[in-house]
Amino acid sequence: MNSLIEPDYIHDYQHFEQYVAKLFSKAGWIVETAKNNQPGYDLIVKKDKQVAAVQVKWLKSNVAAPQLLKFADLLDSEEGKKFDFGFFVTTKGFGNPAKALIKAWDKDTKVFCGVASESEIIWLSDRPQKKSTKDIIYNNNKVYFGIFTCKGGVGKTTIAAHLAGAFVLQEFNVALVDLDPEQNLHKLVGDGIFVPNFRGGVGHSIEVFNDRDWDENAAKDCKIVICDCSPAVERNPQELMKKFDYCIIPTTLNPLGINKHGKVIQDTVNKIREFNQKAHLFVVINNYKKINAVKRMEILRRAYLDAYQEIKQTDDKFHCIDPEKACIRASDQLYYWGIHLLENPEEPRSELAFELVGGRCYPRDDFINLADYIETEAGLGVLRT
Ligand SMILES: Nc1ncnc2c1ncn2[C@@H]1O[C@H](COP(=O)(O)OP(=O)(O)OP(=O)(O)O)[C@@H](O)[C@H]1O
Ligand SMILES: [Mg+2]
Repeated sequence: MNSLIEPDYIHDYQHFEQYVAKLFSKAGWIVETAKNNQPGYDLIVKKDKQVAAVQVKWLKSNVAAPQLLKFADLLDSEEGKKFDFGFFVTTKGFGNPAKALIKAWDKDTKVFCGVASESEIIWLSDRPQKKSTKDIIYNNNKVYFGIFTCKGGVGKTTIAAHLAGAFVLQEFNVALVDLDPEQNLHKLVGDGIFVPNFRGGVGHSIEVFNDRDWDENAAKDCKIVICDCSPAVERNPQELMKKFDYCIIPTTLNPLGINKHGKVIQDTVNKIREFNQKAHLFVVINNYKKINAVKRMEILRRAYLDAYQEIKQTDDKFHCIDPEKACIRASDQLYYWGIHLLENPEEPRSELAFELVGGRCYPRDDFINLADYIETEAGLGVLRT
């Protein structure tokens, strides 16, 4: 497809959906639009006593495996059982992991994947299938998180990915936007992660986008958007920074760093406020080491909380989280997260540091607690409703 002269139907989601409906109609299908808040599919098409759900996926990039898995899951659910097939139609094409999935599904599959071209839908396989729903309701009011500190190596990428993981475990679909030119998120999370719903509903996913491919319509069913920012503020698109509802500012805690970190945080807050006055800003301690020296710990904690008094007085949406209430503890799991990229660069895997050790997982507990703390403290109620 010549990207210089982009055909009309590809411009935006609305045009694309209408165009796909037209193509089905041309091929003899009776086309209906799905209910407005219907998760997982956009059109219903009928022909010769057969009924199919159509997912219209308008994307600026190739379809990723988790996006496809979610649709397959939907078709296996109670909701999906009323359909004989599912058609997954997209704008650009399918990425290699998605293609591998399509290939791996057997001939009984219910999923047909195709790309809309100028005149027809080009199907990838002959009779494509797979797997449920009830809970997610489309809501265009997305909740935006920015993970941003004007300092490298404080844990922005680690926090972005695992906060996304905490939300997926709470049954939200999450879009992760990788704004750092290093593209660490892409290296570590790949195209995304799909978490099946073991209680029988539709699973949820993390979809990863980069700056260029990001568009709200490319992640229609994602309620939460988490941006892993570049520490250089000018590298982050202003339009995105303006959208942040919450901004997480990771920092570390050590006696000699208090003053220096305080300045970095002040600087970070000033930079965010140039573009965005509405966001609640949360300073979170990452790599927190709880030690037995209670008195010393208390001195450090007080010094940290005091360092931000001035900002607090001038900014009522600035929160400095007491590590006793929420923090990300130092953990071997987070420390070694991503080491597989060094061990086996040929076979990158998408995974989070959420595996259980002795029945517990500190990172998982910490991130779920952090998400809950932020929501309660900011009082927006956007995630709970
Ligand atoms: N809670 C933690 N416990 C142990 N190690 C951690 C923790 N958080 C982060 N790390 C380690 O710190 C390293 C740096 O983290 P990360 O890459 O997330 O920081 P960053 O702020 O995104 O860096 P950059 O500015 O380079 O993008 C990681 O490789 C990881 O090993
Ligand atoms: Mg990073």
